[in-house]
Amino acid sequence: MASNLSEQPVALITGAGAGLGEALASSFVGDGVRVVVTDIDERAAVRVAAALNEHAPGSAMSVGLDVADPDAFEAAITLVERTFGRLDHLINNAGLHLSTYSQPIAALTTEQLRAAVDVNVLGVVHGTLASRRLLAAAGGTVVNLSSIASYGVASYGIYGVTKLAVRGLTVAFAQELAADGIRVNAVAPGLIATDNAVHALDRSTFDDFVDTRQVLQRRGLPADVVEAIRFLCSDRASFVTGETLKVSGGYPLLP
Ligand SMILES: NC(=O)c1ccc[n+]([C@@H]2O[C@H](COP(=O)([O-])OP(=O)(O)OC[C@H]3O[C@@H](n4cnc5c(N)ncnc54)[C@H](O)[C@@H]3O)[C@@H](O)[C@H]2O)c1
Repeated sequence: MASNLSEQPVALITGAGAGLGEALASSFVGDGVRVVVTDIDERAAVRVAAALNEHAPGSAMSVGLDVADPDAFEAAITLVERTFGRLDHLINNAGLHLSTYSQPIAALTTEQLRAAVDVNVLGVVHGTLASRRLLAAAGGTVVNLSSIASYGVASYGIYGVTKLAVRGLTVAFAQELAADGIRVNAVAPGLIATDNAVHALDRSTFDDFVDTRQVLQRRGLPADVVEAIRFLCSDRASFVTGETLKVSGGYPLLP
């Protein structure tokens, strides 16, 4: 851990009140990276930041943030600049997913379709543009959360469409932000056993997915995705930009 506080890097994670974002926040703090825990569910963000600060005082701040609101993202970045004076990593993790948004497109209302695009696609745009100036000053990185649902092996409804758009945005922003010294990559997780996923899907759905869609015969864990994100944020990936790394136990290679 760097001794001078202002030298410690800072990561902003969207949707960090649960699941992958929460696990990532904990991993960053364990390595001396300060985190901005943001979530539309402000109470969840406060809870996660408080738990991190209990173990590592001063390591986390919480911000209630709906990524679909560009003005709210600008305000959050202003707060980060005032509090920490820097931003090194942006993780566009917040997403609407699981059962609802993977249904047939015809089953959803226009409002639901629009919400999926606003959060999963435009949320990435708002976050990246709002963070650009601070990330450029730090020589920073962006990592977006796509999904194996984007590869068109099976239909995952509007969810798969939005996650394909995330891969497109990753390429577009890698090109647009390279001149600022910012690398932009994505991860595409398979089915990962977060608390919400375990509650939303029954055991047989999980087991069937592992048995029939993966070549590695075990459940995907939050730590698997966290490791990939941490690699893409690190200098070990200093020559990597515009890539989407699948973290899926080999999906869609069939066993
Ligand atoms: N868990 C998986 O199996 C899996 C697989 C592939 C991709 N992903 C992607 O990884 C990301 C995280 O997934 P997870 O499983 O941790 O999800 P999760 O549902 O456990 O957590 C998502 C968090 O995002 C927050 N959120 C929702 N809408 C938001 C908004 N408009 N603004 C800010 N925050 C908002 C929620 O409150 C929640 O805390 C998502 O983008 C998801 O699509 C997950």
